[in-house]
Amino acid sequence: MSQANFVIAPSILSANFARLGEEVANVIASGADWIHFDVMDNHYVPNLTIGPLVCEAIRPCTTAPIDVHLMVKPVDRIIPDFAKAGANIITFHPEASEHVDRSLSLIREAGCQSGLVFNPATPLDYMDHVLDKIDVILLMSVNPGFGGQKFIPGTLAKARLARAKLDAYAQASGRRIRLEIDGGVNAANIAEIARAGVDAFVAGSAVYGAGKDSDAHRYDSIIGALREQLANL
Ligand code: DX5
Ligand code: ZN
Repeated sequence: MSQANFVIAPSILSANFARLGEEVANVIASGADWIHFDVMDNHYVPNLTIGPLVCEAIRPCTTAPIDVHLMVKPVDRIIPDFAKAGANIITFHPEASEHVDRSLSLIREAGCQSGLVFNPATPLDYMDHVLDKIDVILLMSVNPGFGGQKFIPGTLAKARLARAKLDAYAQASGRRIRLEIDGGVNAANIAEIARAGVDAFVAGSAVYGAGKDSDAHRYDSIIGALREQLANL
C-alpha cells in the first residue's frame, strides 16, 4: 500500500486541553491526517471526556476530518449532535447499541462516514451483515477508557482476520473499508501493525506525549517517525 493511503489520527485525549485549538491545528500542521475524538460517558466506559460542544469548538481549527469515537451507551441520541458539531466520521461499539444496523444508518443519514468499534474481546462477526453500511472498522488494541495503555499483542491476529474479511468484501463490492487501530500505537510497533493489514492509526500518548510540554508544542518529529516506519514496510 502506498504511503499516501495510510492515515495517522492523533487522539486529542492526550492533548493539553487548556490549549486544545492550537493542539489540533499543530498536529495537522505536523503532518497528521485525522483528529481522533474520544467520547466517554462514565457508563459504557469508566471515564468521562468531551462531547459535541468541544467538537464544535475545535471544528474551525482545522479542515482535517474529525473522527469521533463514541464510547457511550445509548448511542443513537447523540449521533445527530456530533454531525451538527462538524464530525466527519462517527464510530460506535456494537455492544452499546440495541440496533446496530439502525445506528449505522443514522450516522450515514446525518451525512457522516460510519463505523463499528471492536473491543479486544468482541468477535468480528458483528460486521458481517452490515458491511454495506460501514466505512471504517476500528479495532481496539487496549480496553477502552484511558490513553497511555499497552498494546495488546493478540490484536495483530485479529487485524489479519479483519483485513481478510474487508479484502473479500472489496473484491465483491469494489468498495474499500478502512481498517483503523486504537490503543498503544507508537513508532516501535506501527510497522508490525501495518503489516497485519491496518491502514489507519490512532495514537494519543505517543503523539501528544512527545511535544505538548515543549514551548512550541509541535509534533513534526514524532509524526515524521511514524511515517518513516510506514515508508519502510
Ligand atoms: C482509549 C481511546 C484511545 C486513546 C489512545 O479508549 O479510544 O483513542 O486515546 O491513546 P493511546 O494512543 O495513548 O493508547
Ligand atoms: Zn479512540
